[in-house]
Amino acid sequence: MSTQRVAVPYDHQLGKTLALLRNPGLLLAATGASGRSNAMTIGWGSVGIIWGLPVFIALVRPSRFTYGLIEETGEFTVNVPAPEMRRFVGLCGTKSGRDIDKFAEGGISTQAGQQVRAVTIDGCPLVYECRSVHYNDLIPENLLESIEKSSYGGSDYHRLYFGQILGTYASPDY
Ligand SMILES: Cc1cc2nc3c(=O)[nH]c(=O)nc-3n(C[C@H](O)[C@H](O)[C@H](O)COP(=O)(O)O)c2cc1C
Repeated sequence: MSTQRVAVPYDHQLGKTLALLRNPGLLLAATGASGRSNAMTIGWGSVGIIWGLPVFIALVRPSRFTYGLIEETGEFTVNVPAPEMRRFVGLCGTKSGRDIDKFAEGGISTQAGQQVRAVTIDGCPLVYECRSVHYNDLIPENLLESIEKSSYGGSDYHRLYFGQILGTYASPDY
């Protein structure tokens, strides 16, 4: 059954979102031009105000299947998982949509976003619907050497997507 959510301010339960970003991670979903949807776990990101707009900055490596889907449409959603979705968060962080349909595998349904074509994930009590208004590829030369070594080792540098948060929706009891 689809999850009913109501519009809330972009910073609704933001402390909880950031705690869950750290552990176990949030679910970034995207739907490509052909209609193919996928989700990947993200552990890094930021919510704030830029250009006077509420923005979710997501960091996605080019090697991710999801990267190609965002490139096709410029849209993504960030979904805050419910506690009982930990297994699915694990699946989305370890398996690639190139190889499996993670939604079918996890028995998880989706619905189209209200502001974007990218899907939102049923069972998630809070979702952010985002349209990329800017992106930036990480510049290795500008990065602290110790972070370059520990997080990259010379390749697969993140693309930072600055997603304008067009809508934030929460379950009524969240
Ligand atoms: C806890 C956790 C956090 C992660 N955070 C990110 C992230 O912020 N950016 C990223 O590119 N990959 C991140 N990953 C890795 C992707 O989720 C993983 O490579 C996934 O399989 C990619 O799926 P895809 O190929 O279907 O897009 C994370 C993985 C885990 C387990």
